[in-house]
Amino acid sequence: MSGPDNTPETTDQNPLSPEVIERHVAAALTSIESAGDLEQLKAARLEHAAERSPLALANRSIGELPGKEKAVAGKLVGQARGQVNKALGARQAVLEAERDERILIEETLDLTTARTRRAVGRRHPLTLTAERMTDALIAIGWEVAEGPGVEAEWLNFDALNFDKDHPARQMQDTFFVEPAKAGLVLRTHTSPGQARSLLERGAPLYVAVPGKTYRTDELDATHTPVFHQVEGLAIDKGLTMAHLKGTLDRLAESLFGAGVTSRLRPAFFPFTEPSAEVDLVCFVCRGDDTSCRTCGGTGWIEWGGCGMVNRNVLKAAGVDPDEYQGFAFGMGVERTAMFRHGIADMREMIEGDVRFNEQFGMEI
Ligand code: PHE
Repeated sequence: MSGPDNTPETTDQNPLSPEVIERHVAAALTSIESAGDLEQLKAARLEHAAERSPLALANRSIGELPGKEKAVAGKLVGQARGQVNKALGARQAVLEAERDERILIEETLDLTTARTRRAVGRRHPLTLTAERMTDALIAIGWEVAEGPGVEAEWLNFDALNFDKDHPARQMQDTFFVEPAKAGLVLRTHTSPGQARSLLERGAPLYVAVPGKTYRTDELDATHTPVFHQVEGLAIDKGLTMAHLKGTLDRLAESLFGAGVTSRLRPAFFPFTEPSAEVDLVCFVCRGDDTSCRTCGGTGWIEWGGCGMVNRNVLKAAGVDPDEYQGFAFGMGVERTAMFRHGIADMREMIEGDVRFNEQFGMEI
């Protein structure tokens, strides 16, 4: 026995007989049911429900029938087509749901997959601190100048009014660069930046000179042979110590917060006259705690050196000291970072342990 869809249609059979129509329906339903995807279903629709399908053709031939037969055949074919369309719709819904589900699975993003992005580096707290210090001076209109780490002995000492056999040359514990006759040292402070920038840029001049500095110190909690300073130099007509004091207070407040001001204590540097050490109001106790461990109960913490630029320094840099005067200061960046962040041991800042540096995150 052959299946209904395999049975060849015989020409003598009436194309509108219930058996023939039923066979068309059965063939359509089989092909619809066996459609495995929407493409195959589309082909089944074309074959069994489109304009040239057997049922559509049968429907068209109804018009030629006499009145009574027309009604019977119309009902028969109408129901048949309705059945096929319903099956098509149902299969369509099933196949669309399957497709949507497959897309959801195939296009899923695995958010747990290993990332290929490299960790972003962070800038060192000393870099950030030096930048903060120079930024505070840029904010009041100063320029930035930089000089070399290997510096001419003449700029590091002679131009700054150090005598040839001034004890300060030894006091500074200098690294001399060989051969000795080259006259080079690793700069012991950023002060050669004073003479350099005056020679290069002339007066009037307002510059900040950040840089790396070197002295033959043993590494311990408060000393390191390689450290950093930010120098400040202001040369203009009629500058006084009041301008120096005002600038230092402004710098201190912008770094440590409102109310952290400075005081000056008499001191000696060959390149400034008068000279002073700069102390800061203790940023922990603000002078209110005689047992404060940060300032030892004095209420003040030493921050750097300063003074009015010595006439001899101006002369060495080709500036007329009767026309221009000014002030200079030099602050340790390590000290400033320790004050700002409560770092107790200087060695932590230079050992390069990323766990230390990471704590500072990235500042912009
Ligand atoms: N250069 C001095 C030091 O390193 C600091 C200083 C700078 C003092 C400018 C006076 C003026 O100790």
